[in-house]
Amino acid sequence: MTERSAPGKVILFGEHAVVYGKPALAVPVHSTRARAEVSDLPGEPAGWVRLEAPGTQISAWLHEMLQADPLASAVRLILKDLGGSAPPALRVVLNSEIPVGAGMGSSAAVSVAVIRAVAAHLGQELSAERVSALAFEVEKLQHGTPSGIDNTVVAYERPLFFAAGKPLQFVQVGRPFTLIIGDSGDRLPTRESVAAVRERRAADPESVDRVFAEIEAISEQGRRFIESGDTRQLGLLFDRNQTLLKAIGVSGKGLEQLIRAAKRAGALGAKLSGAGRGGIMIALVEPASAELVAGALREAGAIRTIRTEVTA
Ligand code: PMV
Repeated sequence: MTERSAPGKVILFGEHAVVYGKPALAVPVHSTRARAEVSDLPGEPAGWVRLEAPGTQISAWLHEMLQADPLASAVRLILKDLGGSAPPALRVVLNSEIPVGAGMGSSAAVSVAVIRAVAAHLGQELSAERVSALAFEVEKLQHGTPSGIDNTVVAYERPLFFAAGKPLQFVQVGRPFTLIIGDSGDRLPTRESVAAVRERRAADPESVDRVFAEIEAISEQGRRFIESGDTRQLGLLFDRNQTLLKAIGVSGKGLEQLIRAAKRAGALGAKLSGAGRGGIMIALVEPASAELVAGALREAGAIRTIRTEVTA
């Protein structure tokens, strides 16, 4: 049996702007992972693959599954990429702790874990670059026009300053810092939130582009404060980025409630993370106030909170 895993992720700065070529900053969430196990399935025909994902009630043969299913797409892509003759019959079991559709990169993590596990089971350890490229193909099938930030940060598992089509830039973390992630429990497809911003920009390009230019400056400053370890200044940038995301209409009532609660409980800064309108928010906290902020988030309606330390 071969097991491989991949982390979740959060975007610290630059969501939405990244769709328009601006940079964004994302970090892996190591404590919340997707895990794939691959084993041989003796007695079944070569080339057959049994997929099991207990969390989503999937239990089916690959050839019976819909073309669009992300788990099935990831397995098909990696088998095609490896080429050669049909592999022995395989069983792929997927378990993920990452909330689905919440902005934590669940689909990218599932793809990365499955691609790594199938390849390793068949004797190949793929580079992060190759894994990321394959996971990007799955993301495109799922999300239409993804920026590529999710598959990249999840495959490399390092803090990343990302702009589509530009060389990758990893971020050195001057001083580790603590985030509390709060899940609003509201769900809206990324595709819809991205489409709403596109419409707003079509109606008023000047204002939306002005917002994106300000977000770009925040991502760049944020990178410098992470490198210099200036957590207080970083917190202020969380708040400024949130104001701008609200201005382009991607915040939401539940998210605002959580952000207010985090700030009242002593967070250094708080913002939505990912596509917005629902999904998660993140609060930057001093380790000493982490429990207080997490408790305040749950009291304000978060269906779960996750603590993560961002390190180099
Ligand atoms: O909510 P998520 O993790 O799907 O993040 C979406 C981030 C966007 O910038 C809104 C879209 C993208 O493809 O980068």
